[in-house]
Amino acid sequence: MRKTVYWIEGDGVGPEIWRAARPVIDAALRLESGPTLDWAELPAGEKALAETGSHLPESVLRTLSQADVAVKGPLGTPVGSGMRSLNVTLRQALDLYACIRPVRHFSGIESPVRHPERVDIVVFRENTEDVYAGIEYAAGSPEARRLLAFLREQLGATSLRGDEAAGVKPMSEYASVRLIRRALRYALDRGLGSLTLVHKGNIMKYTEGAFRRWGYELAAREFAGQTCTESDPEPGKLVVKDRIADAMFQEILLRPERHRVLAASNLNGDYLSDALAAQVGGLGLAPGVNMSDSLAFFEATHGTAPDIAGKDRANPGSLMLCGAMLLEHLGVPKAAGRIRAALEKSIAAKSVTADLATQVPGAKTVGCAAFGDIVGANL
Ligand code: NAI
Repeated sequence: MRKTVYWIEGDGVGPEIWRAARPVIDAALRLESGPTLDWAELPAGEKALAETGSHLPESVLRTLSQADVAVKGPLGTPVGSGMRSLNVTLRQALDLYACIRPVRHFSGIESPVRHPERVDIVVFRENTEDVYAGIEYAAGSPEARRLLAFLREQLGATSLRGDEAAGVKPMSEYASVRLIRRALRYALDRGLGSLTLVHKGNIMKYTEGAFRRWGYELAAREFAGQTCTESDPEPGKLVVKDRIADAMFQEILLRPERHRVLAASNLNGDYLSDALAAQVGGLGLAPGVNMSDSLAFFEATHGTAPDIAGKDRANPGSLMLCGAMLLEHLGVPKAAGRIRAALEKSIAAKSVTADLATQVPGAKTVGCAAFGDIVGANL
């Protein structure tokens, strides 16, 4: 069996982490007799600019809009160039509405908490709405003044001075429900026991509070036989519960084992995924996927690391773990498990890239390519 996987090399450390990670992904599949991957490269970022004159050629978006799986390395956004982030463009153009980040600890990596191994959580973050919708106006600008005047005069908002910066926080039932539905299916398919809706509905009743309500309504409407609530638990059913965001940040530190899948709005989900990643020892090993209804677009969650690009110092672990997520998605979970186990074994053997060496007591530093070979050998 063969499967086409589109890939974007990415800028900065992109080429070197791909050189280290791809052989590991292919080898894991071979060992489990999975499909052979036909890797089809798509130009984006600096490479595309040199080849085609555009950072993101139209043809790439067309191909991706018809694709079901793709993987990307990091893409740079020059600061202050006025160029729109390619990541944001891809997200919007392809309607990648769910950002999914699994977070777990790899033994041997130092963490700021006493029991990082208790974290085994998948964060589902809504990717299209909320205060990230890009509807925001500078303090004192004519747009902000008009918006504030409208709020004051037409809608009776009394707490405004008139010269503030102002943004809009749109949250729809449509976008919330499709994200929560995906999280519920994920938790049910894998028998993960619970799903937590994270919100700040005590303060923002009509946006965050509605997110919570739409979540419970969805569970009762579409998953009635399979779900129950925390106050009324039923054996064998998925518990749907909710937490106010600030309490959730306490719980991921104090009792992370109580949560397996989180469904959150855009801002809460952003903070939570990075806080959880830090809790298990940093972002260096964090994979992720952005999903639409048709495309699963896996990505290394770190940036282009310009300070170490081309120096054989980057950690290819995040991209390898993206590969593991891809293989799970393609129905070869054993090959995915092999990659994770090989990475864990390599870390335990204490020959790791420079970033990990600072977090693994007694570790020896090896380059990106050598680390790739070590993980490959441990498959
Ligand atoms: P960054 O993640 O590239 O770097 C932050 C720090 O982490 C640096 O010290 C870097 O050396 C280190 N680092 C990152 N990845 C590493 C790896 N694989 N191995 C070892 N060390 C690693 O974040 P920064 O500097 O804020 O952004 C640089 C560029 O990357 C910007 O143009 C930004 O827009 C872009 N970016 C792209 C992302 C994506 O494509 N998903 C995500 C984040 C940033």
